[in-house]
Amino acid sequence: MKRLMVAVACGLLAGVAVAQDGKAVYDANCAACHQPDGAGALGLAPPLAGTLGKRLAVPEGRKYLPGIVIAGLASKMESKGVLYEGIMPNWQQFSDAELAAVLNHVLTTFNTAELPADFTPIEADELAATRAKKPTAKELRAWRAASQ
Ligand code: HEC
Repeated sequence: MKRLMVAVACGLLAGVAVAQDGKAVYDANCAACHQPDGAGALGLAPPLAGTLGKRLAVPEGRKYLPGIVIAGLASKMESKGVLYEGIMPNWQQFSDAELAAVLNHVLTTFNTAELPADFTPIEADELAATRAKKPTAKELRAWRAASQ
């Protein structure tokens, strides 16, 4: 019983650590372009607030978000009627768990209102699968278009 309680306590702590990592990864690596509140910056990077939750209603959106952090993207992207032509770096130096955490941070902090009711957090396994078969820019653009 004692062992079970320790295991449960560790699980809870690990959950908290993952949540904190997501914010830490975001603040240190994403906020410079996308801004601390995810509002984006004109001419630099599109908003991540209020623009991503709905995408998770379809499978393409669920592939798009892990895909863009693994592969990066430098294309013309319209968001909320504004055209962005910047460079989204890839973030392959981060672990699958860190990338899942940063995406979950963005989704559950900046996109809560639009998340589908059956949303389940993005898993590290999904990042691992994406890393193993890195999407092309063409695939990313198609998945983005299919998950508007
Ligand atoms: C150097 C600036 C820069 C940094 C740093 C950056 N991004 Fe981006 N991000 C961009 C740009 C520019 C785009 C649009 C790419 C394009 O036009 O093809 C983008 C697009 C995105 C998109 C897709 C948005 C959409 O509407 O489809 C997501 C999600 C995203 N970034 C997440 C992140 C995360 C998470 C981080 C941190 C790990 C991060 N970005 C760091 C510049 C940046």
